[in-house]
Amino acid sequence: MNSLNCLYGLAVIGFLGFLSSCQSPGGNTTGSEYMPDMAHSVAYEANVFGYYYNNRWGSEEDLHKMVQPRKPVSGTIARGYAGGIDAHETGRGVAYKKNGSVPYYYGDTEEERLRAIAEIINNPYPITTAGLERGKALYTIQCAICHGEKGDGAGYLVRDDGGKYPVQPANFLLDDLINSSNGRYYHTLIYGRNLMGGYSDKLSYEERWNVIQYIRSLQAVNKKLEYNEKLNTFNTTDVPYSVVAQKMLQEQAVVAAMDTTASPSVHTSGGH
Ligand code: HEC
Repeated sequence: MNSLNCLYGLAVIGFLGFLSSCQSPGGNTTGSEYMPDMAHSVAYEANVFGYYYNNRWGSEEDLHKMVQPRKPVSGTIARGYAGGIDAHETGRGVAYKKNGSVPYYYGDTEEERLRAIAEIINNPYPITTAGLERGKALYTIQCAICHGEKGDGAGYLVRDDGGKYPVQPANFLLDDLINSSNGRYYHTLIYGRNLMGGYSDKLSYEERWNVIQYIRSLQAVNKKLEYNEKLNTFNTTDVPYSVVAQKMLQEQAVVAAMDTTASPSVHTSGGH
């Protein structure tokens, strides 16, 4: 046997042993990597800081900045952040469950308040008995202490507590507020007004409109007018549920009539 060959053999085995001993995985190391990128993603992941010196996303600080949570693209809204009626109630559109957080596109300035008053006219929800009841419960808890149970601006804090509350809360029964658009109310609920704080974190989208409807019903009672599920003689911007139901019945009748009278010729496309 060639002793030189034997020595070579031992050296090679020793060297391989040396290589594997310092490259095998264990504890907190991945061991040696055959191809570096196979263990470390080249992509950077949102909200995960996985710095690796062989990746080329700039310095450690650069990567740290890049993986921070970001603002959504402007003009987009997250699923659920929409007003109106659930898709499963209408049977069309993309199914989503509304979550009460509807974006508000008016800023907290006097100019924007005037824009809201001019543009937000209709109440998106029909007047229902259930909605008015919800509105009453919320109004009694959140507003009546200042604005009064009747909406006359003489709540407990102003009336009974030795007039400790420093300013006069709005009197909803004055013509100025009666004749103001729903936007004046909605804007106040979002941002508050002077000494009054905002309620955007306390009332959901639908609840805000319920409270506004309830205030409208207080104003109607004061004017001896009707504002309820069946009839609204108080204003033209809020629709009683009876009107909505009537319209739905009419639409159904039209669809049913179309189904029975539709002839095949309706579906044929004309020749060119
Ligand atoms: C802590 C007392 C307080 C509470 C509670 C309160 N408000 Fe007010 N609110 C005020 C005061 C004070 C003003 C008058 C602000 C001003 O004009 O300077 C006011 C004004 C308003 C106005 C008129 C704003 C305008 O454009 O002139 C509306 C509408 C209103 N409040 C709605 C509500 C509703 C709805 C609630 C319940 C969700 C509520 N407020 C709860 C004190 C309160």
